[in-house]
Amino acid sequence: MEKLYEGKSKIVYEGEEPGTCIIKYKDTATAGNGVKKEDLPGKGKLNAEISNIIFNHLMENGVKTHLLKVIDDTTVLAKKADIVMVEVIVRNVAAGSFSKKYGVPEGSPLKNTVVEFSYKSDEYGDPMINDSQITAIGIATQEELDEMKAAALKVNDLMVEMFSKAGIRLIDFKLEFGRADGELLLCDEISPDSCRFWDAKTNEKLDKDRFRRDLGNVLGGYSDVLARIKG
Ligand code: TMP
Repeated sequence: MEKLYEGKSKIVYEGEEPGTCIIKYKDTATAGNGVKKEDLPGKGKLNAEISNIIFNHLMENGVKTHLLKVIDDTTVLAKKADIVMVEVIVRNVAAGSFSKKYGVPEGSPLKNTVVEFSYKSDEYGDPMINDSQITAIGIATQEELDEMKAAALKVNDLMVEMFSKAGIRLIDFKLEFGRADGELLLCDEISPDSCRFWDAKTNEKLDKDRFRRDLGNVLGGYSDVLARIKG
């Protein structure tokens, strides 16, 4: 298979059919723009399964995504898309960089849902970027930004409901979108690598903060998330 791209947690290969690609989840965990890096055997499989369950739920509810087919434990077939170079971050509860930047204690409820954009650039450390900066540089149009914001809020509603039924609080998460056949599709993954999931009763962290903050038993949290959404 021809390798198109290798990222920190996935490898993308050319698909057999035109306009498709094969995405393989890796076991590597990274944080701090790749400064902290470790192999966590089994992480790829857990993230692939969790992300596939979430993407299928979103697609059943009208969200357009790149996902075409699950190939095996760690591999999916997807539509090839031109990734929009911004990360869309949605926050329901203060945590992480939001808490650090604005001095709002982690776990504080927010009066409204926050949607933020970050410029996808390892070189510049994924800086936060606003609409007018994005359109000025030509990363995306205002129409695309509005569509991504609306889709991100819909994804948030669907995921808050889905995770609340599983006894999990959805604190925040990151989405990526891509352009394919003239439309925007939800791409990449949605997993404990890209979301903050807290136990609804104890607020125990079940996500990548266990790795970022050396809290231990990283994959125990991921397995717990999977077991609960599988029902
Ligand atoms: P933050 O609090 O560090 O800005 O992260 C907000 C959410 O976005 C959190 O769930 C982790 C996720 N995220 C990623 O998946 N990739 C990233 O590069 C960043 C910065 C955040």
